[in-house]
Amino acid sequence: MLKGKKILIGITGSIAAYKIPFIIRLLKKAGAEVQVIMTPMACDFITPLTLSTLSERPVLVDFYDKGDGSWHSHVDLGLWADLYLLAPVTANTMAKMVAGIADNLLLTTVLSARCPLFFAPAMDLDMYQHPSTQDNVKRLKEFGYQLIEPTKGELASGLHGFGRLEEPEIIFHRIVTYLNNKPLAGKKCLVTAGPTYEPIDPVRFIGNFSSGLMGIEIANSLAGLGAQVQLVLGPSSIEVSHPNIEIEKVTTSEQMLSACLKYFSSSYITVMAAAVADFKPTIVADKKIKKAVKLSTLELEPTSDILATLGKTKHDNQILIGFALETNQEVAHARKKLTAKNLDMIVLNSLNDPGAGFGYSTNKITLLKPAGEIISFPLKSKKEVAMDIVNAILSLKSQPK
Ligand code: CTP
Repeated sequence: MLKGKKILIGITGSIAAYKIPFIIRLLKKAGAEVQVIMTPMACDFITPLTLSTLSERPVLVDFYDKGDGSWHSHVDLGLWADLYLLAPVTANTMAKMVAGIADNLLLTTVLSARCPLFFAPAMDLDMYQHPSTQDNVKRLKEFGYQLIEPTKGELASGLHGFGRLEEPEIIFHRIVTYLNNKPLAGKKCLVTAGPTYEPIDPVRFIGNFSSGLMGIEIANSLAGLGAQVQLVLGPSSIEVSHPNIEIEKVTTSEQMLSACLKYFSSSYITVMAAAVADFKPTIVADKKIKKAVKLSTLELEPTSDILATLGKTKHDNQILIGFALETNQEVAHARKKLTAKNLDMIVLNSLNDPGAGFGYSTNKITLLKPAGEIISFPLKSKKEVAMDIVNAILSLKSQPK
């Protein structure tokens, strides 16, 4: 995946430095050459010996080797690298980068580097939220540096919030995606996400608990690979902002169907992650139904199955992926949907798996392919699950024409 790629990793003084050996291992396994540079403070958090053993290169800290006086040229390092990853990067180093201060080898190399630079901050939540840090992050992004945002969780301080270094696998994935020339560049993709609301009257509806997060993460992951993503999004409070994602907001299953029909024929990959309502009220009251009416039943009729409709017109050069949410005989039911809806792969969620499905930030999936292949994954964040799904899509036989 990364054969022949040269990656500089700059480590600064943060407790999250303990995660860097995992990144180095992933990069080395993928075939990359890795050169580590540390600030003097970083050496108090993780030993250069560990990092030089894993990277198979001496770790550089000073401007010159104190033993033999040889010069560590930041200019040469900056020209050597295909990518410079600063992880973890502290508030202090970010402030110096903004100001152009170059008082250690890591910083001089920042100024000399001609390659893309990724920076992954890690610090206490109040430090990260401080206006000066936020301003610096903004400035660094304006320099063209790519931010790998910290995630939310328990911090070394015992506080809880944004400031955790992103997970090694995700940082690795960002690098691979970037360096691998975006395999979906220019390809159109269609993703649906969120619930649908089927109105009963002007103030009530039939809906479900879907947040839209799973589909949104899939859209993000496809867009990260260079795809032009059309996201058809049911009612969801999650913010989506990626330059490669266009959003059409819908409310009802009927609106979702017509949006999908508009985009499907030109879409190379379509992922139907939305939790579409299966039934809708036969009659929608045009005025609020009053309590006095003592309504005891509601007449319902099935909605159109959007996925099945798309499956009927799918061409050989299109990839269509569906979801199956099951509570019993999960694999058998999912396999039935895979065939009946003419899909290239189905993502099975079982409501029996704790932490999976609606309302969680995690998910546990099993992927089923038409030839009978089944792959089960452990519980992961929805962002990681999205990457697993997208990686599986990329490995499907049908290639774009
Ligand atoms: N789906 C759809 N249109 C519908 C209902 C579902 O496009 N009206 C899609 C979902 O987006 C999902 C897949 O079909 O990708 C499976 O949805 P699921 O609710 O698991 O299954 P159903 O086909 O609705 O069958 P059942 O409810 O009987 O399990």
